[in-house]
Amino acid sequence: MSDIPFPKPSRRAFLRGAAATGTGLALAGTAQAEGDPLITQVQDWAQGFGDGVDATPYGLPIRFEDDVVRRNVEWLTADTISSINFTPIHALDGTITPQGCAFERHHSGAIELSKSDYRLMINGLVDKPLVFTYADLERFPRENHTYFLECAANTGMEWAGAQLNGAQFTHGMIHNMEYTGVPLRTLLNEAGYDTSATWIFVEGADASSNGRSIPMDKALDDVLVAFKANGEALRKEHGYPVRLVVPGWEGNMWVKWVRRIEVLNGPVESREETSKYTDTMADGSSRKWTWVMDAKSVITSPSPQAPITHGPGPLVITGLAWSGRGAITRVDVSKDGGKTWETARLAKPGENKALTRFYLDTDWDGEDMLLQARAMDDTGYVQPTKAQLRDVRGENSIYHNNCIQTWWVRPTGEAENVEVS
Ligand code: MTE
Ligand code: CO
Repeated sequence: MSDIPFPKPSRRAFLRGAAATGTGLALAGTAQAEGDPLITQVQDWAQGFGDGVDATPYGLPIRFEDDVVRRNVEWLTADTISSINFTPIHALDGTITPQGCAFERHHSGAIELSKSDYRLMINGLVDKPLVFTYADLERFPRENHTYFLECAANTGMEWAGAQLNGAQFTHGMIHNMEYTGVPLRTLLNEAGYDTSATWIFVEGADASSNGRSIPMDKALDDVLVAFKANGEALRKEHGYPVRLVVPGWEGNMWVKWVRRIEVLNGPVESREETSKYTDTMADGSSRKWTWVMDAKSVITSPSPQAPITHGPGPLVITGLAWSGRGAITRVDVSKDGGKTWETARLAKPGENKALTRFYLDTDWDGEDMLLQARAMDDTGYVQPTKAQLRDVRGENSIYHNNCIQTWWVRPTGEAENVEVS
């Protein structure tokens, strides 16, 4: 698609724009006390009792938030067993993804495996093959780390053109949790791994097993054998009771329900690895072993599922940025499709291989915006435009689309997924 022609500003938009100039940027409440029953009358909730402390032993979000849920795209996969759903990133803030709405990706469904039935074997090039029970794992020194998991296919439907209308669907194959677990290094040491070994092969207990080979350097670096997420047990769908956490690397390597780790001198060329997780280039050749997720960002609000619901004036533009190579150092936001940029405020300094929340506290003139965000990480890498990425990778890929996303925000506040050239 070529340049987006801006519709002419309507007279209504002009008037609202003029009114906003009069009030300036001062943030005032918009409701009036006088005549508002919510202020002047005692409400039902103030006259009776609320729920007792025994009403919800394990709480769910209040019913008013019941649209903040994972969603799937029906036409994407043939069934829901080998499928994917998407995190409602447009409706979340901060950086931690609650497990209950964190996207799921299974090749053969989410299995139910109890702690007592759980076993983890380490074999192959080791002094003594070991089998750990869940209770055994709990006796090793453990660590806490927050990391994002991004499926390599995130944004994969957008290569050929703007396709799905919502940040949840274009960028929602991602979640960010605080994991508690034992460094894999500790367990490999316990088994006495052969120091000349170059790879491990990891498999899960589900029917698909999701077998993946991981270079030994990464295995010894920051990989975790994790059993808690955001303080509580992993949910079934995220690999209860134990999953592998492979920070910064594509989600398919984070083996869930992990049951065996084999120490090897070369990768196991599993069917998935050789045929699926490669990037098809314009000339038909393939890129493979592209494990690291490059720096990327997306504006979560405003966005198609999170339109602006107020007139001109103060507007909080917000989104998420991340890099599998390290920490986010800066995020720029453009309102004009990349012609000019403003540097956004990071809610906290970027953390290693974790989501970073950014805000641009701005004054909206009520006119069209072509909103974009551009992430930079501590390696100096700058997130590419869609055109730059296509120049290098063509349009045949599915995986590793980390290009700059554009939302066209109209004077009505509604937003749409578009491409700018
Ligand atoms: N592990 C097993 N055992 N089975 C699977 O199907 N799917 C992989 C990975 N680990 C998978 C698995 C893929 S492709 C991704 S993107 C992540 O798990 C998704 O993790 P989540 O479901 O916690 O979001
Ligand atoms: Co995946």
